Amino acid sequence: MARKIAVIGTGYVGLVSGVGLSDFGNHVTCCDILKEKIDLLNSGKIPIYETGLQEHFDKNVKSGRLFFTSDIEQAICDSEVIFIGVGTPPKENGEADLSQVEAVVKAIGKNLNGYKVIVTKSTVPIGTNRWVKEQIAKESGKDCFDVVSNPEFLREGKAIQDFFHPDRVVIGYESEKAKEIMSDIYRSLFLFETPFIFCSLETAELIKYSSNAFLATKIMFINQIANLCEAVGADVHQVAKAMGKDGRIGSKFLHPGPGYGGSCFPKDTKALVEIGKKYQVEMSLVKTVITANEAQKERMVQKLEKILGSLENKTIAVLGLAFKMETDDMRDSPAIVVIENLLKKKAKVKAHDPQAMENARKIFGSQIVYTANEYEAVKDADALVIMTEWNEYRSLDLKSVKEVMKGNIILDTRNLLDPLTVKNFGFIYEGVGR
Ligand SMILES: NC(=O)c1ccc[n+]([C@@H]2O[C@H](COP(=O)([O-])OP(=O)(O)OC[C@H]3O[C@@H](n4cnc5c(N)ncnc54)[C@H](O)[C@@H]3O)[C@@H](O)[C@H]2O)c1
Repeated sequence: MARKIAVIGTGYVGLVSGVGLSDFGNHVTCCDILKEKIDLLNSGKIPIYETGLQEHFDKNVKSGRLFFTSDIEQAICDSEVIFIGVGTPPKENGEADLSQVEAVVKAIGKNLNGYKVIVTKSTVPIGTNRWVKEQIAKESGKDCFDVVSNPEFLREGKAIQDFFHPDRVVIGYESEKAKEIMSDIYRSLFLFETPFIFCSLETAELIKYSSNAFLATKIMFINQIANLCEAVGADVHQVAKAMGKDGRIGSKFLHPGPGYGGSCFPKDTKALVEIGKKYQVEMSLVKTVITANEAQKERMVQKLEKILGSLENKTIAVLGLAFKMETDDMRDSPAIVVIENLLKKKAKVKAHDPQAMENARKIFGSQIVYTANEYEAVKDADALVIMTEWNEYRSLDLKSVKEVMKGNIILDTRNLLDPLTVKNFGFIYEGVGR
């Protein structure tokens, strides 16, 4: 049975979820407080870069199942199921800032005009869904609703694929009625035999944080092994490949690089440490991962200094600004730390990214030069630093790069290029862990 759903927050998660849920046959209204975002969506345009999103968006708008509004109160009144997909950014102290969730919860409490299921998709600290339940009951004076924790695991850049083919769907619930409605909404995924984990609210909340902290740990583990490889003359790719063949370890997330970034791992690891503090459980492993990640980003500039000497007045071409390929998202991107460090050391930065230039301008303004393509960025540069693993950087025309660059240094923080080939073109090559 098709359900009437409101998705509040149309960011990376809210928009993809709204589009995906409408594709499952539900009637979905996506809401946001940013009116300009809603206007853009109503004009048929997508405010983010996400592969495949536009096609699914167009299809579902056309079919009359997908709507956009900034009238959140009306959308709440009109819906049976309300997904909360607003941001939970980090506070200064690392805790998750729940002010966006609080605002939505208040609006739901005020507009509870009948039975509704309130579904938290945003990543929220343990105990938040229980708090949501209390707040809505207090605000509305009613108990005709259920709260469900349904954390999202999609990867930016592969969000559509992940929404339609998730590794698992986690549903924290307390009432059979809510469980039934959630099963109905996700019925299409049952047909693909997607694993569903039905559990308590607290378990669902902790599954999300544990998954992200574990992946961040895996990344930092291989990064530290990569650093050791450099010291002992080993090849991290062979180490990772052999490790990954062990079924207990698995091959994913064993790729060395400049440290993890993005809107999730940095904030969720910090939030998990704070959650541990609240319950007096030491999260020492996660704390170490956070520190190691900061050091890894710093290490990239130190590598450059080691080869180039003082960076003052040197021109550095930075290729890649997004925190990973196939997204325009620059939140906590390692490129930010690297560029900030380069600027601090008085280097001049020329930067390029296929999708993140607009976001970069919001961060760096006129402090750096933005170029139309990768070849313009490397022109007259003393060194080239690759920060994001975009496919187009894998196939750089090294002959042209060598011709237009002033210097001959390539720092490849993603190990995209073949070191021997690069050296044969007359470059000094520095990668990570090989
Ligand atoms: N981005 C990811 O890859 C990802 C993956 C899994 C989980 N998550 C989690 O999902 C949540 C959302 O993440 P995101 O990246 O989509 O965030 P985002 O910042 O891209 O989007 C949040 C949206 O909510 C809107 N908003 C804020 N307050 C609102 C309010 N009161 N009413 C209506 N709209 C409001 C904002 O305008 C914005 O459009 C976070 O908790 C995040 O940790 C994100």
